[in-house]
Amino acid sequence: MNQPIVLGIETSCDETGIGIVRGNELLANTLATSIDEHARFGGVVPEIASRAHLEAMLPTIERALRSAKMELSDLDAIAVTRNPGLIGALLVGVAAAEGLASGLGIPIHHVDHLDAHIAVDTLSNGSLSEPAIALLVSGGHSSLMLVEDITLGARVIGKTIDDAAGEAFDKVARLLGLGFPGGPELDQKAKMGDSESIKFPRGLSAKHDLVKHQFDFSFSGLKTAVARWIENEQRLGNAIYIPDVAASFQEAVADVLTQKAVAAARTTGVDTLLIGGGVAANSRLRSLAEERAKAAGLRLRIPPPSLCTDNGAMVAALGSLRLAAGRPATRIG
Ligand code: KG4
Ligand code: ZN
Repeated sequence: MNQPIVLGIETSCDETGIGIVRGNELLANTLATSIDEHARFGGVVPEIASRAHLEAMLPTIERALRSAKMELSDLDAIAVTRNPGLIGALLVGVAAAEGLASGLGIPIHHVDHLDAHIAVDTLSNGSLSEPAIALLVSGGHSSLMLVEDITLGARVIGKTIDDAAGEAFDKVARLLGLGFPGGPELDQKAKMGDSESIKFPRGLSAKHDLVKHQFDFSFSGLKTAVARWIENEQRLGNAIYIPDVAASFQEAVADVLTQKAVAAARTTGVDTLLIGGGVAANSRLRSLAEERAKAAGLRLRIPPPSLCTDNGAMVAALGSLRLAAGRPATRIG
């Protein structure tokens, strides 16, 4: 029997993502982004994002169907991001999903955005090996999660107590005069820099912090340390070599993330580490994770960068896993 075809809708932030999957086969992954409209504000403006989702929704669904060479009538189910995210933006996606599902008479699966970041891995690396530890690092989240059955939801075992990792990348990029979002550009600059040139702090890594915050993160002190370092150099009249600052900052983030992720796997006795979310596209995080996972005897799974940032395929992937596991629809169209 043919595997069911699921259309996924993602609108939790500034990307209108529509994905289509059959089983764990990716058929379409189309995206419309309002990022340029937010750039001059240095962050995502919720009202602008909601309006952009409204405008982009139908054309993006049409593009996804064309790219999968399908019609609406071919769909067996809809999956949509329910939470967490910008409430107005989420509402646009949920309304579109409910409209489509009721028009087509097919079921909807409302899913969690973070679980979807984990489920997307099945589209590039095959069935999830559970249990696993997932490190989710994006503009809005930095969490360590224990994944026992992703169709029932992952369990958060640690998270940031202030800024998310991606937020720190964006803020430090801004300090360095780079564009928004800053992660990708900072990653590029860091390639030409020396990651050992400046010693930046590793948040919540001291012995006394580990007692209460073993698997939690903190990036706000690091961001402030970078700001102070720049101010100080400017005061002394020294020229600032951006690649060195970028590489040293990036090293501090990648160091803490990978160290805590490996420790979480060891402590829970799990042998698979999965990394997802926009920051998982970071080249240093990927290489350091590979190195440390190997040293710790862990299997490492990271989706390709195009599936790490927000997209509709991840939502469709989780919907598809829920169908395969026989989980009930959250609403019948
Ligand atoms: O998962 P995502 O697309 O959206 C959220 O759910 O937030 O993540 C976006 C975040 C942004 O902060 C962006 O700067 C960061 O991911 N990012 C990166 C890289 N590519 C995207 N951070 C570091 N290095 C990258 N190569
Ligand atoms: Zn995300």
